Amino acid sequence: MSKIGLFYGSDEGNTESVALRIRTRLGEDRVDLFDVADVTQLEIANYQNLIFGIPTWDFGQIQSDWEEFWEDVREIDFSGKTVALFGLGDQFGYGDYFLDAMGMLHDVIVEQGATIVGLWSTEGYEFEASKAEIAGEGKFMGLAIDEDQQEELTAERLNRWCQQIAEEFAIDGGAGSVTELDD
Ligand SMILES: Cc1cc2nc3c(=O)[nH]c(=O)nc-3n(C[C@H](O)[C@H](O)[C@H](O)COP(=O)(O)O)c2cc1C
Repeated sequence: MSKIGLFYGSDEGNTESVALRIRTRLGEDRVDLFDVADVTQLEIANYQNLIFGIPTWDFGQIQSDWEEFWEDVREIDFSGKTVALFGLGDQFGYGDYFLDAMGMLHDVIVEQGATIVGLWSTEGYEFEASKAEIAGEGKFMGLAIDEDQQEELTAERLNRWCQQIAEEFAIDGGAGSVTELDD
């Protein structure tokens, strides 16, 4: 199958490090990695299967590089594209805005025709409000990672989510092709 394009933005390196850990699990030969600070619309347009990683900053705001790229994202035709999202946030420090940016990115690309995979249960997280929560379904719009409060759970969450999206993207070998790590 064709390669997955993984695009992330990161102010302080957490989202970048999670992006690298996802790539290692799915296989370096299967995933091309991009920092959104350095890309154009064309690079996203090249991929049918995409993973987007975005942290939330400053009380519910989009990470700065994603923000600069936002108008370009709004112009991309996502019809026929499948996208898995992961978001980073701090559920205790910013529990009224937990992962809001992932929810905002979700809404924009769905409006442009994207099919979303990689939905994730809200069980095991404590927060007041999140734009990334699907109301009434007990699910986030993508993988929720909290390196500030639940760092010790990240490796296992990544193992399970990568197996889930390997199935949903129909990667050869499915969940069995994912390398489980304790990193
Ligand atoms: C000043 C500040 C504001 C933040 N605002 C939010 C927020 O509104 N919602 C949230 O879920 N996390 C918030 N966070 C937590 C970050 O999203 C989290 O630390 C994340 O791992 C940073 O990712 P990065 O290193 O890739 O930039 C905030 C952190 C700081 C220091």
